[in-house]
Amino acid sequence: MKTFIFPGSFDPFSLGHMDIAKRSAQICDKLVVAVMNNRAKKSMFTAEERVAMAKECLKDIPNVEVISRESLLVDLYRELDASAVVRGLRSESDFRYEAEMNAANTLMFPQYQVIFLPCRADLAFTSSSIIKEVAFYGGDISRMVIPAVEEMVHKKVLDNQVEKT
Ligand code: PNS
Repeated sequence: MKTFIFPGSFDPFSLGHMDIAKRSAQICDKLVVAVMNNRAKKSMFTAEERVAMAKECLKDIPNVEVISRESLLVDLYRELDASAVVRGLRSESDFRYEAEMNAANTLMFPQYQVIFLPCRADLAFTSSSIIKEVAFYGGDISRMVIPAVEEMVHKKVLDNQVEKT
């Protein structure tokens, strides 16, 4: 039984994330999509909201489970007896960041394995930060996320604006 973990902050879950999840689910028995916290980023959505988004995006893939976890990735890896972590790679700058994370995770847990999947070329330059920036200014994010996520992002932007008035 080969379990892969696809971890991320998924704030929000994008078409790029969906593509990586779909492709990795094809090469393992079970894919655990883990909504986690990146302490370098301030999330727009709560962990519960991010789990709901990921579940909606991945509802048609039978061997996917979505969880949220506030722990080290290596602790989750150990707990699930995972075979590998999957991460999408968009650019050279992603590679540098991923190489650092991989080095730290391997020092903490030498059995840790990571698989990098190149992102779909047309989605290679979108990111959750860009999606939030475009949505903040009322731009069109319909080619970056599914309609249900688009609605949640626009609602969150509006709610945040109302909160500030
Ligand atoms: O989507 P992101 O923000 O690039 O995902 C980064 C994430 C959440 C996978 C990473 O920050 C993480 O693994 N967080 C859990 C805590 C942890 O293990 N940190 C040490 C990584 S060196």
